Amino acid sequence: MTWLTDRFGLDVPLVGAPLAGVADGRLAAAISQAGALGMFGVPATGAASWISAQAATCAAGGRPYGIGLMAWALTGEQLEAVLAARPALVSVSYGSYATYVEELRQAGITVVTQAGTTDEALAAEQAGVDAVVARGGEGGGHGRAEVGTLPLLQSVLDAVRIPVLAAGGIATWRGMAAVLAAGAAGAWVGTAFLGCVETTLSDAATAQVLDAGETGTVYGRVFDVAQQLAWPAEYGGRALRNDYFTRWQGREDELAASPEGRAELKPGGYVYAGQAVGMVRERRTAAEVVQSMSTGSS
Ligand SMILES: Cc1cc2nc3c(=O)[nH]c(=O)nc-3n(C[C@H](O)[C@H](O)[C@H](O)COP(=O)(O)O)c2cc1C
Repeated sequence: MTWLTDRFGLDVPLVGAPLAGVADGRLAAAISQAGALGMFGVPATGAASWISAQAATCAAGGRPYGIGLMAWALTGEQLEAVLAARPALVSVSYGSYATYVEELRQAGITVVTQAGTTDEALAAEQAGVDAVVARGGEGGGHGRAEVGTLPLLQSVLDAVRIPVLAAGGIATWRGMAAVLAAGAAGAWVGTAFLGCVETTLSDAATAQVLDAGETGTVYGRVFDVAQQLAWPAEYGGRALRNDYFTRWQGREDELAASPEGRAELKPGGYVYAGQAVGMVRERRTAAEVVQSMSTGSS
């Protein structure tokens, strides 16, 4: 039993990380049904009606679920929809999240944020979150890439008094066992679910995920610059390496000033994933992934 399993009545100390753009309420609900806590991620342009619909999908299962928000993109309408849905857990990360913590907690929602350095974790504790996610740079999607999961987790566990969840590179029961042994209250897992049948990824993107090896990811801002997204510069993204990224890496300013270069990035021309993608080798259900991470079966 950990703080996470106690708080939400879970069988498995695992949170299915919010995966904006590649999964919606269907994956989150499936993870929750499997005894962990599933979350869906709200994209920058996520409409309030979309949030309500995904929340309804999750709530229909009768198990606790969560919603992931991006502070830099969060609108009043999105926040209202989240407050109305009253999920068990909300994460607000990437930007000025502290202003939302109290309002969400007042609504009876457990609030967490992702931290990529020990200083960010200390600031999160100060901001009044219920728990902090220590997210190492090997993780998929956006975040800092300055510190790896293991050194970050050890340091954050020493530094804060609130519960700590570990994220970045955890994809099997071995990783789960490691972070729990260190003192984490649970694992926050994204990439391990990217091969699941419940994602919204295309067959082509799923095939890229299943084919990719542990050295197949890159980290940077190329895809954000190409799409003119207002991500804070300190949060780059980890994605599968492709020709477009290789061509523009190190030339981000040039790309920002080049409409032709930006237009070369086709819709769906990138797949965010972490280093653990090398362990994602077959198409499975979310329940199978949760099960394999909790029991040691593969
Ligand atoms: C495709 C993808 C989309 C993501 N979208 C979000 C998101 O919307 N909100 C968020 O807080 N984190 C997001 N993340 C980051 C995860 O919350 C988490 O930090 C990461 O997946 C953990 O590392 P792992 O991928 O190695 O498990 C995303 C990650 C991936 C791979």
